[in-house]
Amino acid sequence: MTCSRIASSWSLGLSLTLLVTLSTASAQLASTGFSVTLNNVYYFISPFSSGKVDFPKESLSTIPAVTGLKPVTVIRESVSQKGVSELLANWTAVDDVYQPAFSEAIFLVAPGVTKGPRSPEVTKTQFLPGVSSSVIRFESPKIPSGPYFLEVATGSLYPVYRLYEDFAGAFVEPLIPTPDGKFQTMSAKIPGAASLTVGVPSRLYFSKTADKPLAGVRVGIKDIYQLAGVKTSNGNRAWYHLYPPSNVTGTAVQRLIDAGAQIVGLQKTSQFANGEFATADWVDYHSPFNPRGDGYSDPGSSSSGAAASVATYDWLDLALGSDTGGSIRGPAGVQGLFGNRPSHGLVSLDHVMPLAPDLDTSGFLVRDPDIWDAANAVLYGANYTSMARDRPRYPNQIYTLAFPSAPTVPSDKLLIDFASAVAQFVNGTVQPLDIDREWASTRPAEAGSATINQLFNATYTTIITKEQTRLLRDPFYRDYAAAYEGRRPFVNPTPLARWAYGDSLPDSALPAALADKALFQDWFNKHVLPPSSTENQDFPREERECSSSLILYPATTEFDAIPRYWYKSPPSVPFGFYEGRISVLAGVPDSVFPLGEVVGIGPDGESAGVSDVTGKEEAVPVAVSVLAARGCDGLLVRLARDLVAAGVLRVPRVGKSAVQGGEVLMRRGWGGEKGRGQ
Ligand SMILES: *[C@@H]1O[C@H](CO)[C@@H](O)[C@H](O)[C@H]1NC(C)=O
Ligand SMILES: *[C@@H]1O[C@H](CO)[C@@H](O)[C@H](O)[C@H]1NC(C)=O
Ligand SMILES: *[C@@H]1O[C@H](CO)[C@@H](O)[C@H](O)[C@H]1NC(C)=O
Ligand SMILES: *[C@@H]1O[C@H](CO)[C@@H](O)[C@H](O)[C@H]1NC(C)=O
Ligand SMILES: *[C@@H]1O[C@H](CO)[C@@H](O)[C@H](O)[C@H]1NC(C)=O
Repeated sequence: MTCSRIASSWSLGLSLTLLVTLSTASAQLASTGFSVTLNNVYYFISPFSSGKVDFPKESLSTIPAVTGLKPVTVIRESVSQKGVSELLANWTAVDDVYQPAFSEAIFLVAPGVTKGPRSPEVTKTQFLPGVSSSVIRFESPKIPSGPYFLEVATGSLYPVYRLYEDFAGAFVEPLIPTPDGKFQTMSAKIPGAASLTVGVPSRLYFSKTADKPLAGVRVGIKDIYQLAGVKTSNGNRAWYHLYPPSNVTGTAVQRLIDAGAQIVGLQKTSQFANGEFATADWVDYHSPFNPRGDGYSDPGSSSSGAAASVATYDWLDLALGSDTGGSIRGPAGVQGLFGNRPSHGLVSLDHVMPLAPDLDTSGFLVRDPDIWDAANAVLYGANYTSMARDRPRYPNQIYTLAFPSAPTVPSDKLLIDFASAVAQFVNGTVQPLDIDREWASTRPAEAGSATINQLFNATYTTIITKEQTRLLRDPFYRDYAAAYEGRRPFVNPTPLARWAYGDSLPDSALPAALADKALFQDWFNKHVLPPSSTENQDFPREERECSSSLILYPATTEFDAIPRYWYKSPPSVPFGFYEGRISVLAGVPDSVFPLGEVVGIGPDGESAGVSDVTGKEEAVPVAVSVLAARGCDGLLVRLARDLVAAGVLRVPRVGKSAVQGGEVLMRRGWGGEKGRGQ
C-alpha cells in the first residue's frame, strides 16, 4: 500500500476540505486555502472553517459563487433592523476587509431566537444602498461577526483575509495560524513584480478584552523569532534550507499570540541581525525599501523589514524587532516611527537567534503609541509598568547629549524645540550633559585614567563577535559541513568581517569585555541616570518618577538618510563609543520618537536637498532618542502618549511622509485604495 501526503495549493475546481479516497491507495489531500476577487478586491479564503450554518440551499441562488463558495456576513450583535444598516456601514468604514458585497447574505444571531425550524426562514431586506440582503436567522454560540465565505455544499463558513502586495519587500514569508496553534505559509499571490502577497484577517472577528488586549492587532515578526511550523532564515539562504521548521514558538511571540495578536508573516532582517547597507551588503536577500522621501534611503538595518512594513502599510499595526546595537532604533529613526530598545532582560529570548545574549533585546516598531503601550505590557509582562492609568510624575531634569546648541542645519531646530517642549511639559529645565566630564570626575578606580572612548571602544564589537561565533556560527558551520561533505555555507560579507574580528581575539577578550560592560553599567546607572529617589519610598504610584532624569540625544537627522544605492567601502567592524551605545552597555531603555521631517542634504552634502533620484527637494525623517533609568520603560511610552496628546509629537503616518502621508513615490497614480484591489 502506498500512502502519500500531498499538500497543494489548488486552483479552481475542488471544494475546500474534500478528502479524496481512491480504492487502491489513500492519498491525503489538504487545502492550503483559496484566493478569489470580489468586486476587484483580492481575498484569501482560509482553509480552516469557523463553524457551520444551516440554511435553505436554494435561498441564496442569486448570490455569486466561485466553486461553491459565496460571500456572506455573520452578525452576532443584537441590533434592530435599522441598527443593522448602521452596523454594516460602520464595518465598511473600520475594516479594510469588509465590503458591502458580503452583505447579500446575512446570518443574523439574535438573543432569544431559539433554534429555528429545520430550514430557517429567509427574508429579504435592504440595509445598504443598492444591496438587497437575504437574512437568515440562526443560532451559533461561537462564530464571530464579520465577512465569510460560505461553502454551500456543507454549510461551512471560512474566514476571509484581504490580500496586499508587499511592494516594500518587507516580508520573507506570509503566514496564517493553523487550528493546532502553529503557522503555515499563506498560499496566495496577487500581481506584483518579485514581491510577496500578505493576507490580513478581518478586524471584525476580534474584540479587545482584559485577557486579549491585542485582539486583532496585526503584527509582523522579524525573521529571527522561531514560530511553530515555520522555517526561519535569519537573513541567510543556507540557514533556511538547512534546518527544519521549528516545533515551538518562543516565549516572546507566544505572549503576543496569547494576547490576541494576529501574526501575518515573518519579516526581513539583515543577515544574522548584523548591520548591513542595502547595496553590496545584502547579498542573500534584497534589502526592504524605506518609503520616506525619494523612497531610496537605506532602511536602517537590521529590523529593516519591521520598519519598512509599518512605515508603508496602513493595514499593518505593529512589528516585533530586536535591538542589539541599534537594530530597532536605527530603522525606526530613518523611517519615521516610534521604536524601543527596552531595558535589557525584560523577556526571555528563547527560540530567538542570538547575536549576543548579553546585549540582545526584543522591542517594537509602531505608529500608534497606544498600541505600543499595550504591546509592551504583553511582551514584558510583570517586568513592565504601563503608566496608562496613572498620572505619572515626570522627572523635571531633562538632559541633552550631543545636541546642537544653536540651529545650523534644519534638523537642529526640531531637536532644540523638542527639548524645550519636553522641559515645559514636565515643568522642568533642560541642560546639556557632558558625559566625558562626568566620567572624568566619577569614573571607578578600575578605569584608571582611560577616557570613555578609549575604554569602551571595542567592548560592543568584542561581545557580539565572540558570542555570535560561538553560539551561532560554530554550530551552523558544523551542521552544514555534516550535510554538505565538509563545505562551508555562503555568508554575507558583513557578518564574515565581524566574525573574523572575533576570531582574531583571544578567548579572554570576552570576559574582559563583559567586565568592562558591567563597569559602564554600574557607573552610568549610579552616577548619570539613577532611578528616582522617590522610587524606594512609600510614594503612591502616581507620584513616582521612576527615573531621576530623562536624557535626549539626536537619533536621526538629515545626515542619516543614506542613499541605498551607494557603493560603500567593504564592510568594517563597528568600533567606537557614541550616544547610541549607552543603552546597549548600560541596559537602560532607549526609545526613538519621530519629530518630523526636513529636506535631505543631497547625496554629497552640496546640492541643498535635491534628491539625486527625483531632482526635487525631498523631506526625510528626524528623530530623537530618549533614555530613562533602567526599568522605566513604561514612563517613556507614557511620555510619547502625553506628548502626542499635547501636540508636541504626531502619530506618524504611512507613506512618503511620516507627517503628511501620501503614496510612496513610485506607487503614485497607480489606482489607490479602490484600484485593482489595492
Ligand atoms: C456606528 O459608529 C458610530 C460612531 O462610531 C457609533 O456611535 C454607533 O454606535 C455605531 N453603530 C453601531 C450599530 O455599531
Ligand atoms: C521539538 O524538537 C526538539 C528537537 O527535535 C525536541 O527535543 C523537542 O522535544 C520538541 N518539542 C516539542 C514541543 O515537540
Ligand atoms: C523579568 O526579568 C527577569 C530577569 O531578566 C526574568 O527572569 C523574568 O522572566 C522576567 N519576567 C517576566 C514576567 O518576563
Ligand atoms: C505642570 O504645571 C502645571 C501648572 O501647575 C500643571 O497643571 C501640570 O500638571 C504640570 N505638568 C506636569 C507634567 O506635572
Ligand atoms: C578603536 O579601536 C580601533 C581598532 O583597534 C582603533 O583603530 C581605534 O583607533 C580605536 N579608537 C580609540 C578611540 O581607541
